[in-house]
Amino acid sequence: MALFIDSSDPKEIKDLFGWGVLSGVTTNPLIIAKEAPDADLGERIREVLAVSWGDVSVELTTETEPEMWDEAQLYHAWDRERIVIKVPFGEVGLRVLHQLAKKGVKTNVTCIMAMNQAYLAALAGATYVSIFSGRVRDMGYNVRPVIETTRAILDREHLPSKIIVGSMRHMMDVNEALECGAHVPTVTPPILRKMVWNPRTIETINEFNTAWRARPKKK
Ligand code: E4P
Repeated sequence: MALFIDSSDPKEIKDLFGWGVLSGVTTNPLIIAKEAPDADLGERIREVLAVSWGDVSVELTTETEPEMWDEAQLYHAWDRERIVIKVPFGEVGLRVLHQLAKKGVKTNVTCIMAMNQAYLAALAGATYVSIFSGRVRDMGYNVRPVIETTRAILDREHLPSKIIVGSMRHMMDVNEALECGAHVPTVTPPILRKMVWNPRTIETINEFNTAWRARPKKK
């Protein structure tokens, strides 16, 4: 079981890794375009690597097999142990994934909305398969059976791919992903902070500390 952060912001990542609960980072082109539109991708990812540990997923942005292959080689060279090539799911994606898997390069097959897609990615050798919780729901479908059946098939077939569940919109989506058998929820910084917060916890700590400070002191 693990928890990843879905961000490319080195400041946030450094701060949140300090909690000791995270063991990896996922990024995508949309996150980076929003968080740092002018950034050089290589510099941004190197900054992320410097303030974190574990796997860091970087997504391919090209769409033909030779271009995706070249892009993957470039990212892989940034850190051969920790960079995970995020491959968009599809026919070309499966070809690229298969080649990367044969070379022992770690992969995260992304934009998965259904169990059949996750199964194909796992058969082709994906290290991770990323199911997009919020986007499945945006289409009006329940994501719970997608995660549950994917986990059941991976376990039954002894396929080593791990399920990442991303596209989280609410804290309850994290709970659901864990209940349904996700190996790794990936959460945005605001959702991770919400997982800490509980009004009754704050109230109880205040009650204890107020009583301690107000206790009668020995003269
Ligand atoms: C996961 O790896 C993706 O980066 C991410 O969770 C996608 O989320 P979105 O649907 O909010 O774009």
